[in-house]
Amino acid sequence: MDAAMTTDTQQPTARPSRTMPMAAPAVTSTSAAAAPTRIRLEHINAFYGQKQALFDVNLDIPDNTVTAFIGASGCGKSTLLRCLNRMNDTIPGAHVDGAIRMDGTDINSPEIDPVQVRTRIGMVFQKPNPFPMSIYDNIAYGPRTHKLYGSKADLDELVERSLRRAALWDEVKDRLNKSGLGLSGGQQQRLVIARTLAVSPAVILMDEPCSALDPIATAHIEALIDQLREHTCIVIVTHSMAQAARVSQRTAFFHMGKLIESGSTDQIFTMPKLDQTQDYITGRFG
Ligand SMILES: Nc1ncnc2c1ncn2[C@@H]1O[C@H](COP(=O)(O)OP(=O)(O)OP(=O)(O)O)[C@@H](O)[C@H]1O
Ligand SMILES: [Mg+2]
Repeated sequence: MDAAMTTDTQQPTARPSRTMPMAAPAVTSTSAAAAPTRIRLEHINAFYGQKQALFDVNLDIPDNTVTAFIGASGCGKSTLLRCLNRMNDTIPGAHVDGAIRMDGTDINSPEIDPVQVRTRIGMVFQKPNPFPMSIYDNIAYGPRTHKLYGSKADLDELVERSLRRAALWDEVKDRLNKSGLGLSGGQQQRLVIARTLAVSPAVILMDEPCSALDPIATAHIEALIDQLREHTCIVIVTHSMAQAARVSQRTAFFHMGKLIESGSTDQIFTMPKLDQTQDYITGRFG
């Protein structure tokens, strides 16, 4: 394999357990350089029927860091994101080869429950998708399903904490029983993020989370992403080079299903090793 297709991140944290604990680990550092690997991708090849969408992707994704996936439309960003929480399992004809190790455990192992994987690794989509229920019930949905609280007071507290962490509490505290569908687009996206946070995911995957939002709502979400990385590992797909530069500490550039180059966002945007990366980030193709 081309050296440029490997990554320069750190060794994974070895964890003997094959279970996926619910609580996020203690934060050791917010520095990308010192952050341990949270997810290691080894030789990922993804297919839709006969069509191959990803080719031998190897990448370490560090904890407490925002990693941006960039590249032209159709290069496989969403496919790879969906590999990370087994969402491709739900697409007929799709299959993925290779290992995806979260804290050393392969999330595709037969003994791992995909529902548990999707709780530990939450996903936020381009289009906000509140459930057709109240704001409170949207947030309470995951904790109720997974029985993550004791009393009603505990649940109330969890709902409030999640909404506060998503910077939405002040805007909705007087209308918790109103439908989540009645919120603005930017508020709905923060509601979905709060719903994701309510089950304490270790990883949050975001697929173009701001592409339908105005600049003010985008700024809210970007500020939130920066706060969230203190406790989580975040992967964001974005078509905005400015956004990748603003929110991420690591960047991975893809082209036609291949990981071309990855490294610190500073390096990728100021001193990319490959002309192909330079051409993409300066808008010469893609
Ligand atoms: N459900 C599917 N069935 C068949 N092919 C698919 C499916 N989803 C994606 N593909 C194909 O896999 C390749 C990668 O698609 P993917 O959606 O991962 O790209 P992307 O980088 O996220 O693009 P965009 O920036 O437009 O969202 C494309 O060729 C696409 O047509
Ligand atoms: Mg996509």
